[in-house]
Amino acid sequence: MITISDLRKVYRQGDREVIALDGVSLQVPKGSIHGIIGHSGAGKSTLVRCLTLLDRPTSGTVSIVGAELAGAKNSELRTARRRIGMVFQHGNLLDSRTAAGNVAHPLELVRTPKSRTAERVAELLSLVGLEGAENAYPSQLSGGQRQRVGIARALAADPHVLLCDEPTSALDPKTTEEILVLIEDLTRRLQLTVLLITHEMGVVKRICDSVSLLSHGKIVQSGPLGEVAADLDGALSKALLPLPAGAPAADGTVLEILFSGGSASEPVLSGITRRFDMDVNVLAGSVETLAGSEFGRLRVQLEPGADAAGVLNYLRQNRVAVEVAQ
Ligand SMILES: Nc1ncnc2c1ncn2[C@@H]1O[C@H](COP(=O)(O)OP(=O)(O)O)[C@@H](O)[C@H]1O
Ligand SMILES: [Mg+2]
Repeated sequence: MITISDLRKVYRQGDREVIALDGVSLQVPKGSIHGIIGHSGAGKSTLVRCLTLLDRPTSGTVSIVGAELAGAKNSELRTARRRIGMVFQHGNLLDSRTAAGNVAHPLELVRTPKSRTAERVAELLSLVGLEGAENAYPSQLSGGQRQRVGIARALAADPHVLLCDEPTSALDPKTTEEILVLIEDLTRRLQLTVLLITHEMGVVKRICDSVSLLSHGKIVQSGPLGEVAADLDGALSKALLPLPAGAPAADGTVLEILFSGGSASEPVLSGITRRFDMDVNVLAGSVETLAGSEFGRLRVQLEPGADAAGVLNYLRQNRVAVEVAQ
């Protein structure tokens, strides 16, 4: 479990203040994956650094599995940090050491006996699907294999929490998928609590249970994937359910409709057709399964002169989120 309360981080640059985190509060339950999405400069890396306490927050608290970190002494911090595994964008491996040597590194730092280290390294490499690659150097491994080594290393000290900062940004789509599946599988099997930083909504959709949108150091929207997707007015819903851009319709009202849960598009559209005796022209559409529920987004054009207010009412009564796009 990760609990962040009112975290602020202000950097001083000469006589200027940069507010990198402006009152961030967040809870991530054990065994789940929480995505943090935001543009460059939003404060994502600062958040990670404050969580590992590589950076001291200006104010606020961070607690990881009940251990309060923000006020901890340096010795306590070293112990607490071991409970946090870090996965970086480029793996951050030591080039001079083999895959096994990289995974052994954190264990050596805490003076684990050699035989135990060897045993644990073999276990970890097998856990991430890298049996047989023990003696390979990072330069001999693919990007995906390097990231697997990075994940094995992050797990070496049996962390409760995994912080992943853009873990797949340097990978091609197929390797991204493999690494995401691995992170998801490890989270479930080891009951990890994972905070995953990304700028890609595809990553959030693929493995996150919940998501926060960070912007200018503030969390703008946060919640389980299904909930934020179903909130049509929220910033995340549109990003989760992208619609292809379309040329504006020549005439007639254009609506954007969001379906969630049970309501399917056809009954609703045929409902409009029957009830209002008009044709509905579908301009664009997409359907996604998020958190096990189906979501659909449609852009439809009503006949010119149609009773748009009536249609809006009808849709809302049927628990379909709708807004006028034109
Ligand atoms: N060490 C620092 N000193 C001054 N400003 C910083 C420092 N680190 C980050 N910032 C500023 O804090 C803001 C958030 O940065 P960062 O956390 O790196 O964003 P992100 O990872 O989302 O791109 C930016 O405006 C950045 O310029
Ligand atoms: Mg960053």
